[in-house]
Amino acid sequence: MSKFWSDIVHDLTPYVPGEQPKLANLVKLNTNENPYGPSPLALEAMRREVADSLRLYPDPGSDLLRQEIAQYHGVTAVQVFVGNGSDEVLAHVFHALLKHDRPVLFPDITYSFYPVYCGLYGIAHETVPLDEAFQIQLRQYQKPNGGIIFPNPNAPTGSPVALADIERLLEANTESVVVVDEAYVDFGCESAISLVDRFPQLLVVHTLSKSRSLAGLRVGYAVGNAALIEGLNRVKDSFNSYPLGRVAQAGALAAMRDRQWFDSTCAKVVATRRQLVAELVAIGFEVLPSAANFIFARHPQRDGAALTAALRERSIIVRHFKNPSRIAPFLRITIGTEQQCTSLVSALREILG
Ligand SMILES: Cc1ncc(COP(=O)(O)O)c(C=O)c1O
Repeated sequence: MSKFWSDIVHDLTPYVPGEQPKLANLVKLNTNENPYGPSPLALEAMRREVADSLRLYPDPGSDLLRQEIAQYHGVTAVQVFVGNGSDEVLAHVFHALLKHDRPVLFPDITYSFYPVYCGLYGIAHETVPLDEAFQIQLRQYQKPNGGIIFPNPNAPTGSPVALADIERLLEANTESVVVVDEAYVDFGCESAISLVDRFPQLLVVHTLSKSRSLAGLRVGYAVGNAALIEGLNRVKDSFNSYPLGRVAQAGALAAMRDRQWFDSTCAKVVATRRQLVAELVAIGFEVLPSAANFIFARHPQRDGAALTAALRERSIIVRHFKNPSRIAPFLRITIGTEQQCTSLVSALREILG
């Protein structure tokens, strides 16, 4: 608390990211990072970029990177916006496209940064409850709104919605922006980018933090109609003209090009997820359907917070959410290497007795 703060700072409730512990030798399954490391070609490209040219500002428009992303997704570069992690992209999206008189709609259980952006930018919001099975029901979003945003697959549940349902929502909701946050889409979900040429109100947000294993680099992007992208650029150029440094642009470009590394590491994560789900079900867990690099699981006889604490005593960190109470029994577990997941299951067997 300080008398020097502006009014808005007094009222902010900031986002609390998952813990990044300083201890070594932990099995860290709490922040949905990729266990396999970035593309070796991306690492090489970044090393090359650490050179005398760092005295010069980077390309403010990240043109080469946007062209590469555009080519990857079969769109044009004017349909692509890049930012310093998808969190920054999302912040600009709330500011540029979702701040209207009517409330923005998002699920009651979802990425907890969305209400934080609403607080920061003074945006009214309304939450739409997940159904009994913790699934998003897009039919319930067909009501007056200032915009709609949801992750696909959803976080922290991991559950996907079908592309056909998104298409139906877009057909019904033509007067406000619909944002699909596809942070985890590459682990088994169909992207809505295929719909952007048909629906000018659709914006799809991606990150290189998860499927391209570059959480530490901070690169995210949005794909949509050129007019939406222009709105985002207006906000970006009123905030920070150079969100991506030279090293980030070079690394992200090479990571987008290295299709082979991307395909093989995503396939490994998906295979390990399948195996982990089967093993958890075998020891009595209920696991929600997941199309992400994490799962959301509960044990009918055990408390979520107690299980999380017991795992921590065994140097295994998973994420637990106390609120809302409906999800308090669950653990959110990132898919690690096969070996990490084996350690997790052995620890849980021991804890459950
Ligand atoms: C649903 C969702 N969207 C966006 C992000 C932000 O990712 P980043 O800022 O690393 O690109 C996350 C991070 O965990 C997420 O879970």
